[in-house]
Amino acid sequence: MKKDPIILAIESSCDDTAVALMQGNLVLSHVIGTQKIHSSYGGVVPELASRFHQKDIVPLVRRAGALANINQKQLNAVAFTKGPGLIGSLLVGANFAKSLAMALEIPCIGVHHVQAHVLAHFIKIQGRLPPEFPFLCLTISGGHTQIVYVEDYFQMTVLGQNLDDAVGEAFDKSAKIMGLEYPGGVWVDRYAQKGDPLKFPFSKPRVKGLDFSFSGFKTQFLYFIQKQLAIDSDFIKKNLYDLCASVQHTLVNILLDKVLQAMAQTNISQLALAGGVSANSGLRQRFLRASEEKGWRLYILPLEYTTDNAAMIAMTAQLKYARSLFDNLDIVATSCCEWDS
Ligand code: KG4
Ligand code: ZN
Repeated sequence: MKKDPIILAIESSCDDTAVALMQGNLVLSHVIGTQKIHSSYGGVVPELASRFHQKDIVPLVRRAGALANINQKQLNAVAFTKGPGLIGSLLVGANFAKSLAMALEIPCIGVHHVQAHVLAHFIKIQGRLPPEFPFLCLTISGGHTQIVYVEDYFQMTVLGQNLDDAVGEAFDKSAKIMGLEYPGGVWVDRYAQKGDPLKFPFSKPRVKGLDFSFSGFKTQFLYFIQKQLAIDSDFIKKNLYDLCASVQHTLVNILLDKVLQAMAQTNISQLALAGGVSANSGLRQRFLRASEEKGWRLYILPLEYTTDNAAMIAMTAQLKYARSLFDNLDIVATSCCEWDS
């Protein structure tokens, strides 16, 4: 019987250096080097991110190989994130992958980062079946907020998306206003669990169709905090849990309203959640409740495959490998790129 191909994948679109080895849809190993340095700057410093990718990439590739007990000679292809992302960061992963593919004389495969977040749902996970086509995917990360109509692996249509800030930015910027460390989404989630989500009602933006806007929310929150701090300089400290719970409640409701609209419009009852913000525990609970009420089938990934990781790049590369969708070695990573179709 023919063995499934083994693919090494690199993800370096932002501030995480991630490496995975995958055979078919089975993850053999995946490792992530998170760059802690950015938290002290309150956001990702692109120049520093590229330098740390350079430093970390070879040790992480070695670690992934050792964990999976796979050597270079066993590889059938090398994959990497071709965009979107920070160009300096992308170039480190792309150049590493292309050089390795050239040296080993095996195909190289460039993968679209956001498409990979969606296709992460096809990674083999014990006790879990992948979604059936067609399904909708709410893809929510630091750079994207999209409702995607997924007809097939490489047939995806964006039904609606963020017109300005992505929802991850809304989480992170609200957190920054409250003085929390970058990336703040995870802190908002943690503190929200102890707070009252209805304590501070914030208004939701009115945006046509299935698109999203989060920049107005951020401004509303900033003005509210400034006003309260002028009255009581300890306002944030005294109300941190309720503030986080109220921010999270508002952002999750904005997402859910649009998803309800999209599900009704398309008459589809399968929904997948993807991207870093889908790690949010309040969001998971709210969407689980909605799916029970509405009779949807809801697909949620384990946390390790929601935030940036290389297993999702490897999964997408496996699907491209099966279709002989290889790239030439002159492929260039770009900060903005088209989906594969
Ligand atoms: O998908 P991802 O890891 O990277 C991008 O492609 O952008 O998403 C990162 C985003 C950040 O904004 C981060 O704050 C957010 O996901 N995030 C969360 C949580 N974990 C990560 N937001 C809310 N709650 C969380 N638990
Ligand atoms: Zn991502």
